[in-house]
Amino acid sequence: MSMASLPIFLCALLIFSLSFHGILAVKYVVIVEAPPNHGGTVKFNTIIGGIPYTQQIMGQINTFIWSTLFQQNTPADRKPVDTIQIFIKDFKGAEGITWGGDRINVSAVYLRDYDGPMATKWEYTSLLYHEMTHVFQWNGEGKAPVMLTEGIADYTILKANYFPPAFAKPGSGDKWDKGYDFTARFLEYCDGLVPGFVAKLNKMMRKTYDVSFFKNLTGKPVEQLWKDYKAKHPGVK
Ligand SMILES: *[C@@H]1O[C@H](CO)[C@@H](O)[C@H](O)[C@H]1NC(C)=O
Ligand SMILES: *[C@@H]1O[C@H](CO)[C@@H](O)[C@H](O)[C@H]1NC(C)=O
Ligand SMILES: [Zn+2]
Repeated sequence: MSMASLPIFLCALLIFSLSFHGILAVKYVVIVEAPPNHGGTVKFNTIIGGIPYTQQIMGQINTFIWSTLFQQNTPADRKPVDTIQIFIKDFKGAEGITWGGDRINVSAVYLRDYDGPMATKWEYTSLLYHEMTHVFQWNGEGKAPVMLTEGIADYTILKANYFPPAFAKPGSGDKWDKGYDFTARFLEYCDGLVPGFVAKLNKMMRKTYDVSFFKNLTGKPVEQLWKDYKAKHPGVK
């Protein structure tokens, strides 16, 4: 390199490192669409801690998903996401829904009416662990069974210790891909056989999905794993 081209080189290096940092920092945007006097908005702003708490916990959940859950230690391993938007919105029929890859709608009606055994702030946090997993997980470009991806999202709340008292107990359910907490408990069993199982399975699901991934990781087909798992917990429905 000639001396004359050195400034250009340094300049290019600076631009590269700035954009590299830009890739690492996910932006968290929270939009409250429900009216200010909606019971869900009022709870969101008071007992939940509003936008500041949401942005802070999104950062924590993001780190948990990358480091602990999926063990993706370099940006190349991760699903590229630059912004996650959360809408607090007046709708019924679901607690929350992830859509468009990186957007999450949280039901203000659900927040208003939640009357479960946990605090509303705890419940909201648990919901964000689940929904943010959908943002970051691979789904085999749409080929993975939805109930497996839902199982992985509930496995996050299990691992993060944000699972409610009614969460499925180990051994429960009638099939491995029943989804949600049932599949989460089965994945917990697989993780006991092969440390980092869920992280490895997620990694394999980047471009495609095949049920043989279970055999590839554990040496046993999924149906055999399910039989072994049920046998380990006799009498659990
Ligand atoms: C989520 O809320 C946004 C903003 O109101 C809306 O445009 C979008 O259609 C909603 N998505 C779903 C899946 O309901
Ligand atoms: C299964 O594992 C083998 C080696 O252990 C590997 O070569 C193969 O690509 C894997 N198959 C899939 C579908 O990932
Ligand atoms: Zn889900």
